[in-house]
Amino acid sequence: MKRPYRIHFIAALLALPFGACQEEKADSSSNESSTVSDSNAIKEEPFGTIDGQEVQLYTLTNENGVVAKIMNYGGIVVSFIAPDKDGNLADVVLGFDSADEYVSKESPYFGCIAGRYANRIAKGKFTIDGKEYTLATNNDPNHLHGGDKGFDKRIWDAEPKMTPDGPSLKLHRVSPDGEEGYPGNLDTTVTYTLTDDNGLKIDYEATTDKPTVLNLTNHSYFNLGGHGSGTILDHELMIAADRYTPIDATSIPLGDLPSVEGTPFDFRKPTPIGARIGEDNEQLKNGLGYDHNFVIKDSRDGKLQLVATVHDPDSGRLLEVESDEPGLQLYVGNFLPKDDPMQGKDGKTYGYREAFCLEAQTFPDSPNQTQFPSPVLRPGETYHQTTIYRLGVK
Ligand code: GLA
Repeated sequence: MKRPYRIHFIAALLALPFGACQEEKADSSSNESSTVSDSNAIKEEPFGTIDGQEVQLYTLTNENGVVAKIMNYGGIVVSFIAPDKDGNLADVVLGFDSADEYVSKESPYFGCIAGRYANRIAKGKFTIDGKEYTLATNNDPNHLHGGDKGFDKRIWDAEPKMTPDGPSLKLHRVSPDGEEGYPGNLDTTVTYTLTDDNGLKIDYEATTDKPTVLNLTNHSYFNLGGHGSGTILDHELMIAADRYTPIDATSIPLGDLPSVEGTPFDFRKPTPIGARIGEDNEQLKNGLGYDHNFVIKDSRDGKLQLVATVHDPDSGRLLEVESDEPGLQLYVGNFLPKDDPMQGKDGKTYGYREAFCLEAQTFPDSPNQTQFPSPVLRPGETYHQTTIYRLGVK
């Protein structure tokens, strides 16, 4: 597909060790060291213990020296490290130094796979084929991100593997029938691949043995200046959406799909995130800022397309988001602490609006809003989703 910008990585980066050229499978017995060596496109190391089980951190390094670190607890992207326009590396996602801290610090879904149903279901209730199901209302009065113990808080089976597209990590888990109130045994595979054009590609696949609802996404919090480097209000955002789903005061879509024209939700041309966030606008009040789903233009099942770009003028870093999903949630860290910042990775702190999330998804509350694309998955069908977060400079 055509891209609006060409991504360049500058010569300085070429001086970094190239790690991913070998066709070999990562050898998990020789991966104690944390340095990238020529044959070490994938490393595995312990990252803490949760519920008495050891959690592993997988470091994927592509041939440009770009790094993605992912753990098998929650499928969480812990780090995504790439150069700025001068070749200086920084980690552009928020996170913690160990798996345990994601629990003890009550991570606000940093980097995780959100599911079974990412985003909200009104009052935690929905009906399929005449049968009503009740879920946790963990975001009073609604259900959020899969409930009390969603996919973000589960340990997944992990299989690291070198592929022709780059180093990858395949995560697998069967969510049992009735888990968090959802029907059906849901067999889910999420594969992260760090491609050689610096994309973190996420492929999701799921099957069920009973009719169910499903909406999977990744909840990475980005700051293109580097995590802990201040607010993201100067980042210039483009979203390929003519319409969005306005919300009520509890963040449930009202059901209509108005045009973004003439509103602070018009990001069709790159616009600083902070340019209109303080406007006197009912929707911004309901979301406490941007916390809304956008309706992706020309979205069709299975068609991977550019849905958003974000450019940080200071560092020059550019994020391109491609997805085949019909919706994209923009959330800009409105619930990160205003006064007492969180202690994050590497001694950095995170505060109010110091990160943004672009969560590719079906529309919020679609189990209850039949005019929205259907989130129902039936036995015999396979759910597919692909989303790519690609880092470059401009
Ligand atoms: C999503 C929601 C937000 C908030 C964050 C996590 O993006 O839309 O309202 O709950 O997750 O803090």
